Amino acid sequence: MIVLSGMRPTGKLHIGHLVGVLENWKHLQDKYRCYFFIADFHALTENPKNAFEIVQNTLEVVKDWISVGIDYKKSVIFVQSKVMEHAQLHLILSMLVSLNRLFRNPTYKEKVEELARRGIESKLVLNVDENRIEESINSTLDFIFKTIEIENDKSKSREQIYRKLKSDIMELLRTTLDSSIIIEQFLPNAEISYGFLGYPVLQSADILIYRANFVPIGQDQIPHLELARELARRFNSLYSEVFPIPEPILTEFPKVLGIDGRKMSKSYNNAIYISDSSNTVKEKIRKYFTDPNKIRKNDPGRPDICPIFYLHRVFNKEEKEEIYIDCSKGKLGCVDCKMKLFKKLDSYLEPIRQRREEVSSKEIFDILNDGFIEAQKRAQQTLELAYKAMKFQ
Ligand code: TRP
Repeated sequence: MIVLSGMRPTGKLHIGHLVGVLENWKHLQDKYRCYFFIADFHALTENPKNAFEIVQNTLEVVKDWISVGIDYKKSVIFVQSKVMEHAQLHLILSMLVSLNRLFRNPTYKEKVEELARRGIESKLVLNVDENRIEESINSTLDFIFKTIEIENDKSKSREQIYRKLKSDIMELLRTTLDSSIIIEQFLPNAEISYGFLGYPVLQSADILIYRANFVPIGQDQIPHLELARELARRFNSLYSEVFPIPEPILTEFPKVLGIDGRKMSKSYNNAIYISDSSNTVKEKIRKYFTDPNKIRKNDPGRPDICPIFYLHRVFNKEEKEEIYIDCSKGKLGCVDCKMKLFKKLDSYLEPIRQRREEVSSKEIFDILNDGFIEAQKRAQQTLELAYKAMKFQ
C-alpha cells in the first residue's frame, strides 16, 4: 500500500505543523511505503515571481522534516518539480476535466471572491490620466477643423461647436472607461492564471503518478482529493484500469493556537517555530494570550478558552488534568502555568533542535537526490502504463 502526501514550501514549520501533520507522517512511515514531497510547483501557482524564495524554503522545510524524524531510510523524500512525470501526467489529466468542473473548486471560488473584493478597492485607486486624454482630443479636433469643412450652424460659433463636440467625446470616453473598470471588477479571472485554476489537477497528478492508495491530508484538501478520485475513475473507464482510487487519511488535528489566540499561522506572525531557540520559545510563551478574565493569580480561569491550555493538552498530557482543575479553581496563576508549559515544550523541541543543527545542507541535497531517483522510478512506470492504456505510444 502506498501513502503519498505533499507540503507547499511556504517557510519554516511551526509546532502546529508538527503535531498536525508530521507526527502523523511519522506513524505512517512505519506502516506503509510513504512518498513525501515538497510541492514547489504548487507554491509557484500562487507566487510565480518569487521562485528563488521557494527554493530556499524547500531546504528549510526538508531540514525540519528530517529533524522531527521523517526518516529517509523508510520514506521517499523528494521535490515535486524534479520529477517531471508529475507535469506530464498533469497535462494528460488536464484533457479529462472540464473548465466548469474546475470553476467549482472551492480554492478557485475563494480566490474569485477575494479578487472581487480587492477589485472594488482598486476602482478607487485606478487613476485615469484625463489631461492626456484631453490633450489628444484637442489635437484631433484641431486637425478636423483645419481639414474639413464643418457644416456651419449659423446660430453657433465655431467655438461652441468645438466645445460641444469635445464634451460629447469626453463623456463618451468616461463612460467607456468606467464600464471597462466595471468589467474588470466582475471578471477577476483576468488576474487568475491557467496554472492556478489547474492547481487541483496538478495535485491529482501528484497522487496518481505514484498510484497512491492513501493520502493523509487536512479537511481543506478534501475537494482536491475528490478531483483526483474522479480523474482516476475517468481515466480507468476511458482507457483501462491503471489507477487505484485514492482514499484520504483524515487526521484529527489537535487545535494549536498562536500567541494572539488565533489559529497558529506564519501569516499571522503568531507562531512558535520548530527551529526557535529555547529563549525565543520562552519569550513567545511569556507573551501568549490567556483567559482575559483571569487577571490576578488567584482568579479562577477558563482553560477551555485559553490558548496556553490548548498547548498543555498536546504537549503536557501528564499534567493537563491537574492544570485544568487548578486553573479553574484559581489555584494556578498564568505565569506558573506558562512555565510548566515551557518546560514540557522545550524538552520536546530540544532533541529536534539538536538534530537540526547536525544536518547539513549537503546531507539534505543527498537525501533529496536519492528520493528523486526512487520517486522517478515509480513515476516512470506509471506514465508508461498510462500511455500504454491510452495506446499513445
Ligand atoms: N495542496 C496541498 C496543501 O496545500 C499540498 C499538496 C500538493 C498535496 N500536492 C499534494 C497534498 C498531493 C497531498 C497530496 O496542503
